[in-house]
Amino acid sequence: MPNVIILGSQWGDEGKGKIVDLFSEHFDIVARYQGGHNAGHTVFIGENRFVLKLVPSGILRPGKKAVIGNGLVIDPAALLTEIDALESAGVDVKNNLHISNRAHVLFPVHRMMERMSEGRAGRVSIGTTSRGIGPCYEDKIARRGIRIADLLDCAVFRAQYDSVMEEKVTIARAFDIYEPIDLAAIRDQYETLAQRIRPMVCDTAWLLNDAIRAGKCILFEGAQGTMLDIDHGTYPFVTSSSASAGGACTGTGVAPTRIGGVIGVSKAYITRVGGGPFPTEALDSQGERIRQRGNEFGAVTGRPRRCGWFDAPLLRYTAIVNGFDSLVVTKLDVLDDFEKIPVCVGYRSEGRELRQMPAMVSEMEKVEPIYECLDGWKSSTFGMASYDDLPANAKDYLAFLETRTGVEVGCISTGPERNQTIVRPGSKLDRLLR
Ligand code: GDP
Ligand code: IMO
Ligand code: MG
Repeated sequence: MPNVIILGSQWGDEGKGKIVDLFSEHFDIVARYQGGHNAGHTVFIGENRFVLKLVPSGILRPGKKAVIGNGLVIDPAALLTEIDALESAGVDVKNNLHISNRAHVLFPVHRMMERMSEGRAGRVSIGTTSRGIGPCYEDKIARRGIRIADLLDCAVFRAQYDSVMEEKVTIARAFDIYEPIDLAAIRDQYETLAQRIRPMVCDTAWLLNDAIRAGKCILFEGAQGTMLDIDHGTYPFVTSSSASAGGACTGTGVAPTRIGGVIGVSKAYITRVGGGPFPTEALDSQGERIRQRGNEFGAVTGRPRRCGWFDAPLLRYTAIVNGFDSLVVTKLDVLDDFEKIPVCVGYRSEGRELRQMPAMVSEMEKVEPIYECLDGWKSSTFGMASYDDLPANAKDYLAFLETRTGVEVGCISTGPERNQTIVRPGSKLDRLLR
């Protein structure tokens, strides 16, 4: 079985958690490669609802190993809260989770720095999740970050922490945004938290590569989505990590030569949380209808998600950036009662058709979507598990998405539960799972 990357092809919340949980049955290890507790993946298993933020969704399968790779930023307090909640729901996390010693540590001060940059007059607000993710990655790239390995070495940690925090306080005072925080108490608290995560920490690049050599297979789990990727997304309205497929290698230490396939997850429509351009946003009652039917409210912040129509040019772009072998189309059931379903098939700007996704936000904001309107199917697909059962218009809709994106639709999700899923026999995706 090949090692496979699975990631979001839009602006996040595509339903990756459900799909990773489902597909992890076929893999030995599930490895997260970027982001932090800005992610929120909701997984329903029977009566139980789990919201995963830092822990890979594969943890919900007994016996499967889960890895938090070096590409993540980890707030140990948030991680341990999540682990405790999972353990009290009966999930064995401590014996199955491995945390990279090279991942970076996120501290409360990062949230303070984020409030500063998001709140400053004259600064474009990104509409972040306020978890301190950006400032933590800033420290990483500036080579002053504190890593899990450092946190576990008491003397090294104390010296690094005091020096980094002194710098932060100076900056916060200069901008007059300093909020009194007890830095020494936080240092002590994080030293205590470190002892709880210590047994799970190791060199996960070795762990993963040894597993591959031993014939085990890995599912790489992306958080956020390609349009939130720091390089390929709608910069600056992005997150601060490499959500796209390339991030799986840098974020885990597994080489591109070991990757056998890449799967993109997309909603049957599209959503976005936070600021930034969104060409197919439905600002009318139709958008509200999608939001209500799809329950489009953020799992982390509870914010209403902005909703709109499937954007094929966007998908064509994320398909080339990631090299998608196959697409999973989720939440098809949300469109069940729409008379007509618009699909964006191209972009026009100032009277000209665009061949490529504009790099600049100012140009992206001027883009007018060119729509083709498809007939809805006006009947329930909720929970369907066989492609043949889908109404003809739903099949036509999916075929249209395939033609317009150039990628096969190998899997369709028709509800939040594991069994509310169709994997198309004979598809590339089906072959990647065998
Ligand atoms: P993620 O961040 O990509 O894992 O996605 P989220 O968990 O933030 O958001 C997806 C939401 O849609 C979750 O509440 C899922 O339970 C739900 N969901 C996933 N697939 C389907 C589906 O096919 N139909 C419906 N109705 N809900 C779904
Ligand atoms: P999952 O993994 C949707 C968005 C935020 C904001 C931008 C930057 O559940 O798909 P950040 O806090 O990361 O600096 O915020 O990115 N964002 C997400 N949107 N799903 C997510 O994760 C997101 N994680 C961050 O709303 O626009
Ligand atoms: Mg989410």
